[in-house]
Amino acid sequence: MSRIATIEIDGKKFELPIIKGTENELAIDIKKLRLLTGGITTIDSGFKNTGSCESAITFMDGEKGILRYRGYSIEDLAEKANFLEVAYLLIFGDLPNAEELEKFHNDIKAQAHVDEDVKKIIDGFPKAAHPMGVLSSLTSALVAFNPTSVNVDSEEEMYDAIVRILGKFPVLTAWAYRKQAGLPLEYGDNSLGYVENFVKMMFKKPAAEYEPNQVVIDALNKLLILHADHEQNCSTSTVRIVGSSNAGLFVSLSAGINALWGPLHGGANQAVIEMLEAIKEDGGDTKKYISKAKDKTDSFRLMGFGHRVYKNFDPRAKIIKVAADEVLNALGVDDPILDIAKGLEKEALEDSYFIERKLYPNVDFYSGIIYRALGISTEMFTPMFALGRLPGWIAQWHEMRVRKEPIGRPRQVYIGETYREFISANKR
Ligand code: ACO
Repeated sequence: MSRIATIEIDGKKFELPIIKGTENELAIDIKKLRLLTGGITTIDSGFKNTGSCESAITFMDGEKGILRYRGYSIEDLAEKANFLEVAYLLIFGDLPNAEELEKFHNDIKAQAHVDEDVKKIIDGFPKAAHPMGVLSSLTSALVAFNPTSVNVDSEEEMYDAIVRILGKFPVLTAWAYRKQAGLPLEYGDNSLGYVENFVKMMFKKPAAEYEPNQVVIDALNKLLILHADHEQNCSTSTVRIVGSSNAGLFVSLSAGINALWGPLHGGANQAVIEMLEAIKEDGGDTKKYISKAKDKTDSFRLMGFGHRVYKNFDPRAKIIKVAADEVLNALGVDDPILDIAKGLEKEALEDSYFIERKLYPNVDFYSGIIYRALGISTEMFTPMFALGRLPGWIAQWHEMRVRKEPIGRPRQVYIGETYREFISANKR
């Protein structure tokens, strides 16, 4: 039976339908609110109560700590799947069979190169440039080299744009890293798996034979899967809203990369390590920093803690905490930063400030520790997140295009000056 919500404004009642998702989530459909009420709108800064779309890609339940891609649990996928299978699942809706996966991989491999002129653009960046800035610029620049990627009405061209970016983005990510590290820009090896090829592109030294390290490949595979989608977060909403203007995939992604860069979103993984290092430098007194985080006159926040949706635990953080221990053990890394992280986590989880506000470690509390152990520079953490999130952004953009969603254009409540008469400059 369909349900109705009734709102009453100045004694007048208005009925609005309630829609139900497949996981029984209820939402009041306010599409006709302005029409019915003669222009009354809703306000919800930060969209804490607002659904921007219906989506069949990712389900998360923040109270229960559930995360599923297309119905599959994140625990199963992180344990059993490879990143490319997950990318296919997110974008096309089902896990691929062996043949579909092979075709998908071959189509991506056929695009795993970028125009040589892109190297000239990279040359123009200062070596100290943040790789997120380099990555978003290069992703935008791809449009100039691949103009067909802007036709958003053709399924075929959308597929073409999807495999193109999946082929080229790891190259750009590895090049952003190599530029900063002062290493020559190189292509990988199409005989390798998607993640292994990326590892080779990142770490191959000019004069040495590349030795694959399965621990590194497995850890990265898991990290990329854990980051692959997270429904309507800041960067994904950005990709969807930019794409809703019929902008092409690459520029929509570039916008998403910039949104991800911020320290309250993807930039948190870099901020976590910088915070842990600062605590170490300052003598390792975790209690002092817990107090700072609680002090409302101090702008310090415990980075890697809290999440807009997860209010019990972040399921990705659970998986990653175990993975961090495994990777550090396997690589024989003894990192004092890990002890500080564990100390902070323990104290925060026992502190009423964090308990009352339901603040728990999020995925980025531990991801930086793994990246550090793998020898990835701190500034590269967020580009790694971007590489992981790429399939999710693509899937959400593709879904938005296929569903022919209207251009995103929120309303506002104007609180500025009312009409003022213009006075010319000499009379002001
Ligand atoms: N440290 C200390 N206090 C915090 C923290 C924190 N990390 N996070 C939230 N709080 C407090 C706020 O001060 C606020 O307290 P108040 O009720 O006394 O005013 C309360 O908890 C609620 O916080 P909001 O900012 O309203 O929560 P919101 O859902 O808007 O923000 C966010 C979520 C941005 C993730 C926030 O928790 C935060 O800044 N965390 C640190 C940054 C971080 O780790 N970001 C990564 C997010 S995960 C990702 O992008 C993969």
